[in-house]
Amino acid sequence: MNKLFSLLCFVALSISSLCAQNINFNNSWKFYNNKAEGAENTSFDDSKWRDLNLPHDWAIEGPFDVKYNARAGGLPFHGTGWYRKHFKMDANAKGKVVSLEFEGAMYNAHVWVNGQFVGKRPYGYIGFEFDVSKYLKYDGSDNVVAVRLTPEDLSSRWYPGAGLYRSVWLKIDNPVHVKQWGTFITTPTVTSKIGVIQNETTVVNKSNINATVTVKQEYFNAENKLVATETEDITVKANGTAVSALYTKIKNPLIWDTETPHLYNAVTTIISGNEVLDTYKTRFGIRSIAYTKDGFFLNNKPIRFNGVCLHHDNGALGSAVYRRADERKLQIMKSMGVNAIRTSHNPPSREFLELCDELGLLVQDEAFDVWKMEKVPNGYNVFFEEWGARDIKDMVLRDRNHPSIVMWSIGNEIIEQKDKKNGWKTAKMLNDYVKELDRTRPTSAGFNNYSGPYDNNMAQQVDIAGVNYKPTKYSEIRENYPEMPLYGSETSSCTSSRGVYHLPIEKYKTHESKHVTSYDLIGPPWAYPPDVEFHFQEQNPHSMGEFIWTGFDYLGEPTPYGGKDNSTNGYWNADWPSHSSYFGAVDLCGFPKDRFYLYQSQWTTKPMIHLLPHWNWQGMEGQTIPVYCYTNCDSAELFVNGKSMGKRVKGKDLTELKVDFLRYEPKTFKSKYRLSWDVPYEAGTIKVVGYKNGKQILEKQINTAGKPAKVSLSVDREEINANGEDLAYITVRIEDKNGNLCPNADNLVNFSVKGAGELLAVDNGNQTSLESFQASHRKAFSGMCLAIVKASNTAGKITLYAKSKGLKSSKVDIVSK
Ligand code: GAL
Repeated sequence: MNKLFSLLCFVALSISSLCAQNINFNNSWKFYNNKAEGAENTSFDDSKWRDLNLPHDWAIEGPFDVKYNARAGGLPFHGTGWYRKHFKMDANAKGKVVSLEFEGAMYNAHVWVNGQFVGKRPYGYIGFEFDVSKYLKYDGSDNVVAVRLTPEDLSSRWYPGAGLYRSVWLKIDNPVHVKQWGTFITTPTVTSKIGVIQNETTVVNKSNINATVTVKQEYFNAENKLVATETEDITVKANGTAVSALYTKIKNPLIWDTETPHLYNAVTTIISGNEVLDTYKTRFGIRSIAYTKDGFFLNNKPIRFNGVCLHHDNGALGSAVYRRADERKLQIMKSMGVNAIRTSHNPPSREFLELCDELGLLVQDEAFDVWKMEKVPNGYNVFFEEWGARDIKDMVLRDRNHPSIVMWSIGNEIIEQKDKKNGWKTAKMLNDYVKELDRTRPTSAGFNNYSGPYDNNMAQQVDIAGVNYKPTKYSEIRENYPEMPLYGSETSSCTSSRGVYHLPIEKYKTHESKHVTSYDLIGPPWAYPPDVEFHFQEQNPHSMGEFIWTGFDYLGEPTPYGGKDNSTNGYWNADWPSHSSYFGAVDLCGFPKDRFYLYQSQWTTKPMIHLLPHWNWQGMEGQTIPVYCYTNCDSAELFVNGKSMGKRVKGKDLTELKVDFLRYEPKTFKSKYRLSWDVPYEAGTIKVVGYKNGKQILEKQINTAGKPAKVSLSVDREEINANGEDLAYITVRIEDKNGNLCPNADNLVNFSVKGAGELLAVDNGNQTSLESFQASHRKAFSGMCLAIVKASNTAGKITLYAKSKGLKSSKVDIVSK
């Protein structure tokens, strides 16, 4: 993956032999979604199989069906999927080391080359590679790689996706080359004057003779300017490995932090005589981290985690990795004030981590949701004994050069917390594996059981015990374990459906619509409103912060709906068609829910103000509507049709929340984090005005909308790259003739695309919608829906047309270059 293209080597050094090559292997696969007898064999006839390019998630194609488990998204992710790809090898590759690298294959991958079994890898979230040199034909005849995936039903607590959903590479190396994930760059000293870079590079020799080579390390800054070079000669024994450990000093380094995430590249060149055997690129950042009982420090500055937990799917795109989808997701999170991500509950894609490096987000990289003791019958527990060590080590090896990663998590809410005798032993084992490979970052785990893991010596095995859903215990934990750092590894789990408001607000934990009110008060029994966590974080200034559950809605786990049904199949279909989560501060489309603004009001300082609910309550004239304002202003005043409803001051005028789903006393919570008014409904306008230091600085107005009149479109970026994978996200609003959002509109919108792109997916964020993500139409939900357009490889204009019966249609142009 990190190899530079051979072309560079040829140009730079005019060498005769082939230098390392890293060939993207995503295109021209054959796919079949069922069992296929003999499909691993070269002679198998796959001519009728479907042609496709990767990344691919077959489950997202649907259809949704009650015969699948809503807990995993109500989509057909289990069964058998076969992928085959035909290719020819250059005769020059003979004698080289040829490997196939899969960045992730969901789930239970078995791989054959030319009919010969080359290896397997069950865990879908980890990358792996196989040396396939000896199975290949180099005489110009056909080679075929066949991959069988067999994701199991009841194997995941959320939507895992299915398929070759990350990139695949064909790597051609000289026998002596840098090992897969073979560099480890750390920065033991970081000051504004000096950055010390320590680089340990593992070189592998797959030949039968010892090799003495020069390892050259060159460091380039973001402008590609060479800033330092070191070299060392090492001998790599035949069929062995050797490590070159070099350090270098960089003067006045550009330090990586959350505001200015400066990056550097190390280019490692392996040279024998005047021949370049390999070039390998590692991107890294110069930064320091420290944890004390008083908090987390980045480059010696204290930072609190304003964090979110994120699952890996991207809604309508499923788990297939699109860089732009992850970039948009992370940008939306940053705009909420997020500075940290917990990759719940598995290692994310390479792209995701690269983006966190680039955007200056702090990451907790998490290995597992289970160890040996199961949460679901066919979960990873089935594989843990055989693969646990390998998988966690590979996570660290793969990811340890990312400056964004500041913590490793060895597990989430592991059932072994309850194992009084042996739970700690597995924790110790995993912790030791991580430490073997990286001593620069702390380990952690998310514990939801208090005081179990503290009592059974499990919490003591990691550097930092994470606390899930126990804000009322923070001070007790601090008293009992004064030296242990502390943070909320998973918090709140509040639920809502964008734009939906049920009254009276405290009544509906579940509602016949199977939506959840957006007054941000409802959640499952272990949950509590964001305000509660804000309060306890303030009360415990030593806490390193929190990771909310979750930043985005995700597919599956439709709590508080989707309880277990009465059948014995273990499905969560009691409230079908609910099939995706309500936990996000942002819905599945990436549209902010009200809660987004509650976090923004707490986590950002740029003045903002938000008002809820909508103001279309026809038939409820005169009845009381609670109106909430989320703001970081000092105070706010509400006007209804021009009449003041009074000023509310933050910190003084509290909003009483009836948090009767909170497990802990008190059952009501007086929140200083939201301002509120009880307003007798009359159609017209509500307006909130925000004041800072006595000055009016902001206002937000909501009008009662008239009848739907038009479809309005806006695109996230007017220019995208013509690279066959870049995306444009088009937000669709159903508006009245004056441009007001029609908050209850559910008009069906039909899409068509002309030009240099295609319609990739549609969505509306409705957790109960069974419409296909891949249709060319979508109903609006709370007045909005989304179209995702993918660029082709040809530059040109892309036009998306949106039509809806009885409404003025619309189009939007995108330039693809
Ligand atoms: C936690 C769990 C998460 C998710 C969440 C929902 O206990 O770690 O994966 O299930 O609950 O509130």
